[in-house]
Amino acid sequence: MSKLPLDRILQSQGFGTRKWCQHLIEDGEVRIGGEVVTDTRSSLETNGLEFSVYDEVWKYREHIYIALNKPADYECSRKPSHHPGVLSLLPEQFANRDVQPVGRLDHDTTGLLLMSDDGTFIHAQSSPKRHVPKIYVATAHEAVTPELVKHLLAGVKLHDEPAPLAAILCEKLDEHRLKIVLEQGKYHQVKRMLAAAGNHCTALCRTEIGGLKLEALGLQEGEWCYLEDEQLALLKPAE
Ligand code: URA
Repeated sequence: MSKLPLDRILQSQGFGTRKWCQHLIEDGEVRIGGEVVTDTRSSLETNGLEFSVYDEVWKYREHIYIALNKPADYECSRKPSHHPGVLSLLPEQFANRDVQPVGRLDHDTTGLLLMSDDGTFIHAQSSPKRHVPKIYVATAHEAVTPELVKHLLAGVKLHDEPAPLAAILCEKLDEHRLKIVLEQGKYHQVKRMLAAAGNHCTALCRTEIGGLKLEALGLQEGEWCYLEDEQLALLKPAE
């Protein structure tokens, strides 16, 4: 249980500086339980708190954990240069509270991207010691052959990598598509592995991380949702 003044609560949720949040409250733009609250110092229990700003309802969250169905032509970097950044697909206040992608997908890769403002979570999820499988569907320019699948499972040597990298699972889906499961998250790993095995990746979608499946989230491209405890539990490595 923790009580905080309303202006601090709004600030912590990314609605702007303390001063700006005070103005929002004094101008009657903030409601709790449907009632306008104009006292900026009203002390409120944050646990389970719901409030509205400009008539949009929000739930207080100490940290936020998000799944985004990333469309192509969005960049994951903090300072996007050639395409809009993935943060532009989220409500503005999320950037104010420093929500960041967990790892990166290439600008042309689509699919499941986790985002959060919890540094400990981001760090733990990105750690190379954490063996959480990431599942991709890759479209290959040349036909997918049994040799290609064997090669990816046996491991391919990539430039700058001391040891060969292997898929932990790989299966042909149809003439030009394969499902590939990786535990590492090296730079352009799927594309480089396909190239090293003599093919070329023309499209890539991340469909699952650990036990969290994009399909189960029901998100259209560009849509996002909060991840609650039971979904976050699916991101833990297998015991
Ligand atoms: N592998 C790639 O080559 N690109 C991605 O975006 C993710 C994995």
